[in-house]
Amino acid sequence: MPVIMDKIVSLCKRRGFIYQSSEIYGGFGSCYDYGPIGVELKNNIKRVWWKAMVQDRADVVGLDSAVIMSPKVWEASGHLTAGFADELVECKKCHHRFKADELKDKTKCPDCGGKLTIPKKFNLMMQTYVGPVQDEAAKTYLRAETCQGIYVNFENVLDTMRMKIPFGIAQIGKAFRNEITPGNFTFRTREFEQMEMQYFIKPGDNDKYFDEWKKQRMDWYLNNLGIKKENLRFREHSKEELPHYARKAVDIEYNYPFGFKEFEGIHDRGDWDLSNHAKHSGKDFSYFDEKTKKKYIPNVVETSGGVDRSALVVLLDAYHEEKVRKETRVVLKLDKDLAPIKVAVLPLVRNKEEIVKKAKEVYEILKPHFMSMYDDTGSIGRLYRRQDEIGTPFCITIDFDTLEDKKVTVRDRDTMKQDRVAIDKLIDFLQDKLAKR
Ligand code: GAP
Repeated sequence: MPVIMDKIVSLCKRRGFIYQSSEIYGGFGSCYDYGPIGVELKNNIKRVWWKAMVQDRADVVGLDSAVIMSPKVWEASGHLTAGFADELVECKKCHHRFKADELKDKTKCPDCGGKLTIPKKFNLMMQTYVGPVQDEAAKTYLRAETCQGIYVNFENVLDTMRMKIPFGIAQIGKAFRNEITPGNFTFRTREFEQMEMQYFIKPGDNDKYFDEWKKQRMDWYLNNLGIKKENLRFREHSKEELPHYARKAVDIEYNYPFGFKEFEGIHDRGDWDLSNHAKHSGKDFSYFDEKTKKKYIPNVVETSGGVDRSALVVLLDAYHEEKVRKETRVVLKLDKDLAPIKVAVLPLVRNKEEIVKKAKEVYEILKPHFMSMYDDTGSIGRLYRRQDEIGTPFCITIDFDTLEDKKVTVRDRDTMKQDRVAIDKLIDFLQDKLAKR
């Protein structure tokens, strides 16, 4: 693994961002748990996405559909056929397995040079049974993409929310795929979270909305998540690699330590999903256009991002090492909206009762307003280092002078500049500093 990935994995464990799932039993097949700091980061990413995609838009509404759906959904969507399968090859010597499309030479093992088997199709759906009897009738699947829950509710949302085309339905939730080659930490896992939006449009408007959403999504990563421009790019799919449902697909890729790779896809799905669900369910999903007095099956432009991949991108992009007085300072320069903890309250010394008491009082004042943390478990230098490593924008120190002048020292994460601020002005001061400009 590249050095920077090792550093991120170690920081994630050390500072409570991400742990290996079922770690006490030796871990479990590339599944991960988000710790107390990681869950805040992930929630912040989802909150910022929801604001941009739902709250700020009159034409997009939200949804939270079930993970387990009728197996008929997956028959109709094409996920049970060869369309949603990877080609697997195995080395006859070392028995390592690979996705055939990721190999330059599909005959020779990249690890030991052994001969590879011929590629075999491997469906990615995660199978499960519902109810006490595990027979064919009880078999279903965990959803492989959240958007199928949106398609099967298209009519419900249209009717109950009185939506007019063009409009979108957005959803955040877990998805599951039995990946052949999970890896690169949380980049490819078998359980992950997606942030998806399906925009229903009039047939023929596809290119217009595809270009519009492509631009909006890239702008969101630049301006809302604060990702560096030079680390992002678009990549259009060739005809051969298009997903089974897509007429056109463009990925937004990040320059990970292991190369440029996708973390969001924008897809023109045409009428693939609604037409197939209409065919399989017997429902009529045609839309009556009041202006033209004509009926049509809406087409869909989809934006499909990964929460876990976004979190990984955010961590990699924010990671900095700097030399400060001959020591290396590790700091996550996270966008302030995404920072798990906004403000940490730290007593300068922990063996002085009045200082500890005052620090706890200040923490109580700030806690209802900001995600805050109180910490007195080390020297002030060590406490600053911990907060820098989790990207806390402001540290507040309570010192001997505080007891006299009722002021505290506010240290800025990025500049390390310190301001003296009166305790009764602290909420306004921090609110102003944390406001998005
Ligand atoms: N509904 C379309 C769809 O699911 P996708 O390109 O297969 O499209 C969209 O997935 C996003 O979901 C990806 O860009 C990625 O961020 C995330 N994703 C997909 N498979 C993943 C996996 N195995 N592990 C982590 N994230 C994954």
